[in-house]
Amino acid sequence: MMKRWVTLLLAVLTMFALTACGSEGGKAAPKAENATASKAGEEAKLPPAAADPAKSKILVAYFSCTGNTKALAEKAAKALHADIYEIVPEKPYTSDDLNYNDETTRATVEQKDDSARPALADKNADVAGHSSIVLVYPIWWGQAPRIVDTFLESYDFTGKTMVPICTSGGSDIGSSADYLAKLTRGKANWKDGKRFAASDSEDEVKEWLKSLGL
Ligand SMILES: Cc1cc2nc3c(=O)[nH]c(=O)nc-3n(C[C@H](O)[C@H](O)[C@H](O)COP(=O)(O)O)c2cc1C
Repeated sequence: MMKRWVTLLLAVLTMFALTACGSEGGKAAPKAENATASKAGEEAKLPPAAADPAKSKILVAYFSCTGNTKALAEKAAKALHADIYEIVPEKPYTSDDLNYNDETTRATVEQKDDSARPALADKNADVAGHSSIVLVYPIWWGQAPRIVDTFLESYDFTGKTMVPICTSGGSDIGSSADYLAKLTRGKANWKDGKRFAASDSEDEVKEWLKSLGL
């Protein structure tokens, strides 16, 4: 009788062991996934800079159609060793769209409508992973292009330091930065902005940005 129980017990233990091996063997990939998941979990607890030391805490986000603002954004990113992101419209602006001599063209029509929100091509800016955002835009009819409004309303800027800088044909930054600041509803910390001319050197851009102590 005893021997039968021992045999039965051994059989049950063997089955259990086989099932366990089977499940572990069959789940080789999930085991690796679990390892990754716990690693990701650990990383998630660290501040972004510590999670990826190669990453800057500053993101330069820019919108540019004819290149002037892109050039300024690149100077800023270089000066600050910042990451850079281009705000791209889902529907690109043609040169006809930008013709401000014709008030019926796209850019001008959008600027006259403060509820216009041209769609973004993507929402992949890593705003969450950066503590300061340098926002770089051209002046269109005294303000930032409406797509910059779309950008600001598409992410959470809570607690971020925001630095607005712009290019233009001659106008100053005017009320454009104050208008943008309203779109983050008091949740972000906006610094005073500045307009740069295309002729402003990399060093001039650098000196001004460095003075902010980001
Ligand atoms: C629709 C439109 C409106 C503009 N309005 C102004 C303006 O009010 N004041 C100004 O100085 N420049 C104005 N500009 C000129 C741009 O601000 C300037 O060319 C800017 O550097 C363009 O930047 P980008 O080359 O990065 O697109 C306007 C340009 C466009 C297309």
